[in-house]
Amino acid sequence: MMSDANYARALEAFREQARTSRRLSILERFSAEPERMSRLSMQAAGLYVDLSRHRVALNAMDTWERLVETSGFAGKRDAMFAGEAINETENRAVYHVALRAPDGAHLTLGAGGENVSVEIEHTRNRMRDYSRAVRTGERRGARGRPIRHVINVGIGGSQLGPLLACDALSPPSESGIEVHFLANIDPEAWDRIRARIDPHESVAVIASKSWRTVETARNARAVREWFLAAGLDETELGDHLVGVTANPDGARDFGLTDTTIFPFRDWVGGRYSLWSAIGLPVMLAIGPRGFDDMLAGAHVMDRHFREAPWHRNAPLLMALLSLWNADAVGSQTEAVIPYSQALARLPAYLQQLQMESNGKRVRRDGSLLEAPASPVVWGEPGTDAQHSFFQSLHQGPQAQPVDFVLVRPESYDPQERALGLLANGIAQAEALLHGQPNVQDPHKQYPGNRPSTTILLPKLDPRHFGALIALYEHKTAAAGWLLDINSFDQWGVELGKKIATKHEAILSGAAN
Ligand code: F6P
Repeated sequence: MMSDANYARALEAFREQARTSRRLSILERFSAEPERMSRLSMQAAGLYVDLSRHRVALNAMDTWERLVETSGFAGKRDAMFAGEAINETENRAVYHVALRAPDGAHLTLGAGGENVSVEIEHTRNRMRDYSRAVRTGERRGARGRPIRHVINVGIGGSQLGPLLACDALSPPSESGIEVHFLANIDPEAWDRIRARIDPHESVAVIASKSWRTVETARNARAVREWFLAAGLDETELGDHLVGVTANPDGARDFGLTDTTIFPFRDWVGGRYSLWSAIGLPVMLAIGPRGFDDMLAGAHVMDRHFREAPWHRNAPLLMALLSLWNADAVGSQTEAVIPYSQALARLPAYLQQLQMESNGKRVRRDGSLLEAPASPVVWGEPGTDAQHSFFQSLHQGPQAQPVDFVLVRPESYDPQERALGLLANGIAQAEALLHGQPNVQDPHKQYPGNRPSTTILLPKLDPRHFGALIALYEHKTAAAGWLLDINSFDQWGVELGKKIATKHEAILSGAAN
């Protein structure tokens, strides 16, 4: 950071500009700024990102540049890419980007530190071998039946990324393997899954970075008992149970062996872990080549984030807009509306990514922030959401910025539903912007001037999916760096866990 005083001044100037932009007319800006579209829309790793529909004048962006410079953004970003221990409260590197570097990279934890590439590639090769063998039927259940079901037992980052990726990239009809996600400690969650599957045709992937998460530990035991109750003996469990963790000792205590443990390291944050062995169910569902393409797409976004200048840098501009909108719109939320059934779980994924990362109240030095660091992230897929809460987006008292995530249809079905889906996404952004302010009947007036971002994927394939997720990861990290918070710890989740232990003891005493 240049100096704290310069940074504080730059942040205040940025906020002041944002406040004065509250009444700025986006449509007037389009008329006054012929270069607006070209300046505020861009290609990033094959995605088209349009940021032009926000309450910002191009000439106000000097304050953006100043904030980027004084926050030390570039140095912090480069420290992440160099594998330095930037997660200070846990004394760890934040090195998920190393997981998507191409094979043959030589990446180290900081200058002269441990080489991580060898281990990354070793584990990835084991994942490839395992996935291929299961998918081809070369590796079967202990009684010789082919594997048709994978149960991912994990929660938070050990569930949300794989779930989204499997949903997005593996339509049930195309993959011979169906992946089920068991996260909730509610016994009903497991009951619903096991009612539909046969243990002799199933593999459970126990996914827990820490191997200490209570929900996962208990669900894993329930799944293990289910296999044993089906007549499998302890020696046969290796054909049905594997573990993914940064705590292999814990997994060994559970009964797994080195051949059934796929490790990753503590420098992979839970909510950034899709690219690690946590992605094993995704590889099982879409195959190693698809998984590699997903990594490659994310890597192209990594390069964009590292190399593009600040004013063409899509994740950084999205982060700046997110901070800007807190004042320029006065909103504390961001809606994400994927116009794609396959991306239906994107909002849930982004809730953990953004709110667990930036739902913070203090800076890195412990001082209190003046304003909330993270908006509330929410959303549902279009077009369903249009028939639910879009009324409020258009006519509610408070504008809420929206990200429209659109996918160009590959082919049009006879009823042209895919075309209709895309048309609806485009239309909603237009309606928010233009509104209908001049009609007589106040019930039918739309104020308009409501901001939105549009992200268009040319295709929902692993490559563009990887780029999309990396875009949001970097947006999240950049927003944290601009506010000088640590986006990589999550101390706020601990207290409730402790209190639950106390209540469980009380409840079980009462029950006895
Ligand atoms: O409690 C929150 C959290 O630690 C998340 O950050 C994490 O993704 C999730 O729990 C699951 O953790 P683990 O993978 O260690 O089981």
